[in-house]
Amino acid sequence: MIYEKMSQATKTMKSSMIRELVASTKNIEGLISFAGGFPSPKTFPREILSKLYADVITKEGDTVLQYGGSQGDQLLKEELLKWEGYDDLSQEQILITAGATNAIFYMSMALLEPGDVIICEAPSFLGSLVAFEAMGAELHSIALDQEGLDITLLQAKVEELAKAGKRIKFIYTIPDFHNPTGVTMSYPRRKQLIEFALAMEIPILEDNPYSRLRYSGKDIPSLFRLAHDEYGNTEIITEVVTFSKILGPGMRLAYVKGSSVLIERMCSWQQKVNIAPDNVSQRVAARFLTEGHMQAHLESIRKFYQPYLDKMLKCMADYLPSYIQYGKPEGGIFTWLWLPEDMSADLLFEQAKAHKVTFIPGSKFYPVGQEKFNCLRLNFSYSNLQQIEQGMQSLGKLMEDFYT
Ligand SMILES: Cc1ncc(COP(=O)(O)O)c(C=O)c1O
Repeated sequence: MIYEKMSQATKTMKSSMIRELVASTKNIEGLISFAGGFPSPKTFPREILSKLYADVITKEGDTVLQYGGSQGDQLLKEELLKWEGYDDLSQEQILITAGATNAIFYMSMALLEPGDVIICEAPSFLGSLVAFEAMGAELHSIALDQEGLDITLLQAKVEELAKAGKRIKFIYTIPDFHNPTGVTMSYPRRKQLIEFALAMEIPILEDNPYSRLRYSGKDIPSLFRLAHDEYGNTEIITEVVTFSKILGPGMRLAYVKGSSVLIERMCSWQQKVNIAPDNVSQRVAARFLTEGHMQAHLESIRKFYQPYLDKMLKCMADYLPSYIQYGKPEGGIFTWLWLPEDMSADLLFEQAKAHKVTFIPGSKFYPVGQEKFNCLRLNFSYSNLQQIEQGMQSLGKLMEDFYT
């Protein structure tokens, strides 16, 4: 009976197929998984956090165990602006949320009417795609190359949509160590994208979970930073940064910077959905920054992950057949493979599962109807070095055997 009462949006809502895929391999003994997107628990700063949680509850329990403001902890916001070096941004231009997922949801709720268009990258982060679809958005995807979003294709798509009378609400991009491809948008592309967005007045949602996980090469400024520094604009980009891959996803903590008008409306959504993010975790994160732990912690995470990325890249070079194409990310937690046109990663997934190796078939990262099947995502932050060696050897062999 209750099913009949459900809204159309709920009835047709998709769950994350990735979760289902990962669950389908859960009980396979000895499985080597390149599937999930979990950070390694070894990177969680457990000692510092356990001390800070105890301290904060002991010394500030009366306030932190109370309801907090929907706009987020003022001290954390001050510390974040200091950490990122924005002395001209106000508290009204930043909001703390329960993870990036909530920030993305609030922005979408603030801007979208059913049928509105969101332009996303192809492929893109499935969690956001299913959320956008559940809110009634129409997704149009633009291919990525090794420098990120293809601006020529973007321009053509925007023209086409405008001619069709569509309302484009925003562009969704993951410029740094993109999930799922590992691609980082180049500096010139970032400038082109901002200039195009400013000229066309199309807002950009910049999802930035991974920029601090750079193991080699030079940092590239975020879109928000570039728009702020070089175009004097703090409205066109809304940047979401999560602590999930820095401190731990269980803390459910992220922050979002952007136009004060938009932030105020997102805050209003937060009030309705969540009242406020976890007060204790917010204050713990603030103290983590005040006590100056962040820099050393980030250095230790980078040092921890670097050998895993190096190992994955070496195994890709050593074991994959020469017709498999891939980029060489300098950070993040994912790599991406392009297979020959006639090799389906969905089929390969079933064979790999039988050989106790998993990954996520690339088709799962495209909007429905826009899928590509000859690609796949590999995560390198969860398996150990020996498992990477063994798993990649098996995967390479399976690919070779695919044609025999
Ligand atoms: C691109 C991207 N956006 C958002 C998220 C979700 O972040 P959070 O845990 O802060 O909700 C993830 C997590 O994997 C991600 O990769």
